[in-house]
Amino acid sequence: MALLEVDGLSIDYPRGRVVDGLSFTLEAGACLGLVGESGSGKSQSALALLGLLPAQAKVQGALRFQGRDLLTLEESARRRLRGSAIGMVFQDPMSSLNPYLRIGSQLTEMLVVHRGLGRGSAEAEALRMLEAVRIGDAYRRLRQYPHEFSGGMRQRVMIAMMLLLKPALLIADEPTTALDVTVQAEVLRLLAELRREFGLALLMISHDLGVIAEVADEVLVLYGGRMMERGPVPLVLGRPQHPYTQGLIACRPRLDSPLGQPLPAIPGTVASAREAGAGCGFAPRCRLAREICRQQTPAWTPLGAARYAACHGLAGAPEFDDG
Ligand SMILES: Nc1ncnc2c1ncn2[C@@H]1O[C@H](COP(=O)(O)OP(=O)(O)O)[C@@H](O)[C@H]1O
Ligand SMILES: [Mg+2]
Repeated sequence: MALLEVDGLSIDYPRGRVVDGLSFTLEAGACLGLVGESGSGKSQSALALLGLLPAQAKVQGALRFQGRDLLTLEESARRRLRGSAIGMVFQDPMSSLNPYLRIGSQLTEMLVVHRGLGRGSAEAEALRMLEAVRIGDAYRRLRQYPHEFSGGMRQRVMIAMMLLLKPALLIADEPTTALDVTVQAEVLRLLAELRREFGLALLMISHDLGVIAEVADEVLVLYGGRMMERGPVPLVLGRPQHPYTQGLIACRPRLDSPLGQPLPAIPGTVASAREAGAGCGFAPRCRLAREICRQQTPAWTPLGAARYAACHGLAGAPEFDDG
């Protein structure tokens, strides 16, 4: 049994559909990256898993975590799950930290409330965890307030707080997007190390394929709320099959590209699934689009070697066979 099974997840608002038929499984200890431009439905999918969507969102499909259906779970049971087996890290750790409480109090409070530890052992555990996320001088740091930490250090504190819950799954939604590049690289390295150390499964969400490539084993590419391509990271990055994935890779700024040279962008703006209707959601921006692409939604097609893509350009084309 997979740790997490998402089966045909769709999310509708009165104004339209924002996630359309998302399906994937995540095994214990594995890391899947969800990637796509802003507005492609990544955060909405994460919020659905956490049961944090606004009331007007209509959710369909099945979400099973450790075999339990998350959508039919009572709110209280779901909240318990959020506070234990499923941890989450967002872009802005400040929004999850209390600015008026010392870091140490926030970490120990978490342990007292969620894991029923006594004060003394909670403090020892908090100290140990700050050290685990490589925060130096941890004993002194426990007595400081969130504003005394830099952005990268605050994100480490957030990660420590989540690890204290001993989750089986950590959902990280753009956890390094607000950080500058060197700090981002350090936090990503830390996440990859902690994942192994703690045997965590990680659902890593980013608009940046480079971030996904740093930590994930597999990547799922979303566009307009729909799945475009999925596969092992080295294969998808090395031989992207979907024109959208190819565009995302071409858009990545390269360190060796001459300064001032415009980035090769994918023309057009992100369409939401609601505008897409029948046909491929990416067709209006696709340089290879044909008539069929505007009329029929392409099927999710296995390409061999744990790879899939949804594109009419693939059908029956032997050069796309990886097997
Ligand atoms: N409360 C809401 N009501 C209606 N539409 C929403 C709501 N929240 C988000 N959306 C829409 O859902 C789509 C996907 O958003 P999101 O999941 O945040 O994208 P991503 O995280 O990939 O950038 C966007 O088009 C966004 O406008
Ligand atoms: Mg988002």
